[in-house]
Amino acid sequence: MPSIHRIVLYRLLAAWVVISLLIGVTVSWLGMRKIDQQLVTLATEEIKRFATTNLALLEQPAALHNTLDLLPSQTIREHLIAGEFQDRNRRKLAATSNPLHSALALEVERQAAGAALDQETRSRKFSADGRSWIRVLVPLSGAEGAAAGYFEGAFLVDPELMARLRDDLTVTLLVALIAVALTTLCLYPIILSLNRNVVRHSRDLLAGNIELMEVVGSAIAKRDSATSMHNYRVATYAVKLAENVGLGRDEIRDLIAGAFLHDVGKIGICDSILLKPAELDPQESEVMKTHVALGVDILRKSNWLLKARAVVEYHHEKFDGSGYGKGLAGEDIPLLARIFAVVDVFDALTSVRPYKQAHSFAEAIAMIERGAGTYFDPRLAHAFIAIAEPLYRESRDVSQAEVETRLQDMIRKYFFAGA
Ligand SMILES: [Fe+2]
Ligand SMILES: [Fe+2]
Repeated sequence: MPSIHRIVLYRLLAAWVVISLLIGVTVSWLGMRKIDQQLVTLATEEIKRFATTNLALLEQPAALHNTLDLLPSQTIREHLIAGEFQDRNRRKLAATSNPLHSALALEVERQAAGAALDQETRSRKFSADGRSWIRVLVPLSGAEGAAAGYFEGAFLVDPELMARLRDDLTVTLLVALIAVALTTLCLYPIILSLNRNVVRHSRDLLAGNIELMEVVGSAIAKRDSATSMHNYRVATYAVKLAENVGLGRDEIRDLIAGAFLHDVGKIGICDSILLKPAELDPQESEVMKTHVALGVDILRKSNWLLKARAVVEYHHEKFDGSGYGKGLAGEDIPLLARIFAVVDVFDALTSVRPYKQAHSFAEAIAMIERGAGTYFDPRLAHAFIAIAEPLYRESRDVSQAEVETRLQDMIRKYFFAGA
């Protein structure tokens, strides 16, 4: 089972990658938009200043050809690729191009034919061969503020300015990603600490449930015998048999709980029948059989014991269908109940009861053998017979304290190890 450290680490790593991607894409997109806006604003302001300064050219467009040499602004002299004065109806009055950028001017002219600017779209950005430029349409006003015409120009973006803006964006991006990484790192110990609390509470809750299970099991045992040894032994036998036939950890947990509570319904059986020091007559037997339904009813409200209930409900079923409870047969009887039936009968046979003496180990094994296929699932009966001798030896002639210690070890192994 992967450790909680690894699980938290992997999930945080996945969250960090996803959040970094989202933030990276968003910051880059917003940053590039901002850069474009800054460049458009710069281009618009420079071209507007140029056009406004030379407004008179609207009246004498022929003079435009010499204007670039006379411009007062160094920026516009270096960056204006081409420009065109237009009248109020967007008809060309005069055009010029910058001799510094004559090759680009041809490209701008080609683009202008394909994607004209209008009142809606007053600027467009273009890039080619590592250079970027912006075409801008500026409306011009006459002396009284009346519309006088337009100037459409192409402004070459300074590569150094572009690189500086992109460097700023990279720094912003890095800061955002570092912030995400630091936040993720801070979350790691916080999540682990919260998880430790949750695990502690879960273990306390589980320990409480197990204690209660043992207390109830012990209360039932006290009614018909002096100790809880039967419960301890059948739980131990059942786990060993379940391990032997390859049951998983969760199923074995349910089996332990079921073993403790298998006869919980005997609480509802009167003493004259439960403690009768002789064989029960048929009428008394019928009353005794009701302990199965009583047990199911008692556990009905417990979700924690939902699967363990199979042991309570079906532990008196027989493989050939002649048992009681629901009268199930074969593999219709839940596996936990089939396992439990073998060990419960074996322990009953080898124990003293008010109405009988204990059978020897050999006699009990012979009876289990005879019951394989009729009383018991034959596969499980034979699996138990194969492991029964050392189990029987270990559980006899030992103190209750010793049996309880072994059971606690088993409970630790199946309920708490790795939790
Ligand atoms: Fe029973
Ligand atoms: Fe029993």
